[in-house]
Amino acid sequence: MRRFDFAVGRTNPETFPVDRVQRAAKTAIANEYAQLTEYPGKLGHPGLRAAMAQREAEREGAAVDPDAIALMNGSMQAVTLTAEALTAPGDTVICEEVTYSGTIGAYRTLGIDMVGVGVDEDGMRVEFLEETLDRLGEARKPKFIYALTTYQNPTGTNLSLERRHRLIEIARARDIPIVEDNCYGDVHYDGEKPPALYGLTDYENIIYMCSLSKILAPGMRLGYLYAQPRLLETILARRHDAGGNYLAAAVVAELYRDGVWSLTEELNTSLKVKKNLVVDGLADAAGDICASSNPSGGLFVWVRFPEDVDQAKLARLAAERGFFYASGANFHIHGDEVPYLRLAFGHVPDDDIKDGIPILAQCLREARTSNEAPGFQGLFD
Ligand SMILES: Cc1ncc(COP(=O)(O)O)c(C=O)c1O
Repeated sequence: MRRFDFAVGRTNPETFPVDRVQRAAKTAIANEYAQLTEYPGKLGHPGLRAAMAQREAEREGAAVDPDAIALMNGSMQAVTLTAEALTAPGDTVICEEVTYSGTIGAYRTLGIDMVGVGVDEDGMRVEFLEETLDRLGEARKPKFIYALTTYQNPTGTNLSLERRHRLIEIARARDIPIVEDNCYGDVHYDGEKPPALYGLTDYENIIYMCSLSKILAPGMRLGYLYAQPRLLETILARRHDAGGNYLAAAVVAELYRDGVWSLTEELNTSLKVKKNLVVDGLADAAGDICASSNPSGGLFVWVRFPEDVDQAKLARLAAERGFFYASGANFHIHGDEVPYLRLAFGHVPDDDIKDGIPILAQCLREARTSNEAPGFQGLFD
């Protein structure tokens, strides 16, 4: 049976730069075989750290010290290590109410008490943050605020500039660190690139993480953490793996010897086509019953459907027809069933998007238990 797999966020094999990676690997091994016989250490490959510092500095217009960057086994290691270093079981952390499922899993395992702040078109509803913090009081003061500021997973939203400033202001006033996960920051295809928080402030308690999974390939398992010395040391004190994969880092450093942008732009151009196919396909096939995001970056479209959809039936019908998606409950910090689903389109061939979205639309219609109007105007209202 034909398979329409929109479940997991990953990159497109068709645009993976095979020849360039092969050449980079050959050069990196010839030049750096001696270093491969050593353990990489807590920060990791100096060349890739320099390339990522340059990537950050060019994007944010801020000076970034390569020695404040530690390479990680994917940015997920940064998410987990940070939480391990800054929390104990039972501690509170603030997150967007719907957020990355991997983070939710890691925080749950660590016994973290996640407290959610809602999300709308402009990202985390920072206007509710203060009252949430007041309600929690000193006893449950959060150890940090975990924020997906740009191309939020799953909603695709960007935190507005005003809210970015307000978030920093509140965190600084209450002395709460911010963990900024910018996994999708360079998966950008429309408009201005939103600024990272650390580039907007001199507030030192920002722990920033980014990834190569989304602009190159998740199989590389390369990401990084960037923080000022005190926090960096605290987090790295928890690191006991003798460093990340030096070979992968050496190959990618060589690949990006001339900068990251030309390769990134090639990938993003094809992603924009895919994103438009999803959004337009949904509007055509299910515009009367669904609302969807129309992100300016990232790998996901977030879809709202009527409350009367029987979600178990929807999942069964879709799977029977070879269509796979991630249901909204995966992204809710308490696992609540919400009338949303997420479509990951980065790796899906264009024809599968064109043919797959009408199948999803049909499944949604069949899984409804009434014919009433959906009862919402947009994605969040
Ligand atoms: C928001 C977010 N953070 C972190 C990660 C982890 O990515 P990686 O470990 O591949 O860098 C993901 C992966 O999907 C993600 O969506």
